[in-house]
Amino acid sequence: MAESTSHIKPIVDKFGRIHNYLRISLTERCNLRCFYCMPEEGVALREKSVFMSSEEIIAIAKEFVELGIKKIRLTGGEPLVKKDAAYIIEELGKLPIELAITTNAVNVDKFIDVLKCAQVKSINVSLDSLVADRFNAISRRSYFDRIMSNINLLLENDFEVKVNVVLIKGTNDDEIIDFINWTKKTKINIRFIEFMPFDGNKWEWEKKVSFKELLDKVDEHYGADGFHKIQDAKNDTSRNYQLKNGQGTFGIISSVTNPFCDTCNRIRLTADGKIKNCLFSESESDLLTAYRNNESIEPIIRNSILAKHPERGGNVAFENLTEKAIKNRSMITIGG
Ligand code: GTP
Ligand code: 5AD
Ligand code: SF4
Repeated sequence: MAESTSHIKPIVDKFGRIHNYLRISLTERCNLRCFYCMPEEGVALREKSVFMSSEEIIAIAKEFVELGIKKIRLTGGEPLVKKDAAYIIEELGKLPIELAITTNAVNVDKFIDVLKCAQVKSINVSLDSLVADRFNAISRRSYFDRIMSNINLLLENDFEVKVNVVLIKGTNDDEIIDFINWTKKTKINIRFIEFMPFDGNKWEWEKKVSFKELLDKVDEHYGADGFHKIQDAKNDTSRNYQLKNGQGTFGIISSVTNPFCDTCNRIRLTADGKIKNCLFSESESDLLTAYRNNESIEPIIRNSILAKHPERGGNVAFENLTEKAIKNRSMITIGG
């Protein structure tokens, strides 16, 4: 039984947003090389000691839960390439939280039993194309067939699967309807994501496909009677829709043209133990060093969230920015 947490003083920012969702990046490493996520030259390898060990991840996660965290999502790089990923999932599965994971699904078949035992229900899978050669070109590796078979494995095992599709003009924006057609007979949630700027990913405003462009395309193809808006869950990143008689749903995550920061409840912990109070935050707070020095980490967590900007780490608009002007990490070292 989950313990009562009603006595806990929540982690709250200056704008009254309660932060009860922690995203932990288990590792900066990945078995894919998606160009929109990491710089072409890769990320610098660093000594193992700068990263949280499995025991540190588990212990720090427990402290967050004592401060009112209700949901933990494991991210990467690719979380399932972390040595001890199974052990971490098992241990976090014992906490009174909802445990979720975002993965590229390459290794999912090896983790099905662990994920079930830890009662992980929601699995978000990154997949940017339904065309094998194209997907393999985007990810610079050849795992398309394995990923598709692992998505099917997850569905057969009754996991709630969301597929993340980063839309990039001229790369995969001709597949919107193909992806949505997948929801006709399959209980899957396809989420199109506006391409976002991160260090080294050659982002340009013109390369994104906006929320509006996407909806126009859907409207043109299915007609206004062919799909409808559905109720979004509280704190959802996506605005969601369903085809008439569709089994699944589809949505769009519009961080670029239409941010959803007013309901933000997220804290990020990077693999090297830094808190990011926003996906786009320039500053970070070093939790791991304090933890290793036996200092209390609670004030660091609370102060970090108190310093949070109202929107997108202080970047009010992206229109006139280039990726170089945004001072942030590469996506692979944040975890989304
Ligand atoms: P749920 O827990 O299912 O709501 O998942 P999620 O959408 O938060 O997580 P996921 O890891 O699948 O991320 C999907 C996309 O949403 C990625 O491109 C993330 O960068 C983006 N995203 C996730 N959380 C946030 C957020 O707090 N702010 C912004 N702007 N984007 C986010
Ligand atoms: N813009 C938008 N989404 C991105 N992701 C990775 N890089 C970007 C980017 N530049 C998404 C991936 C993954 C999620 C964690 O973040 O689709 O599923
Ligand atoms: Fe939260 Fe920052 Fe994302 Fe806005 S951009 S929803 S403030 S993490």
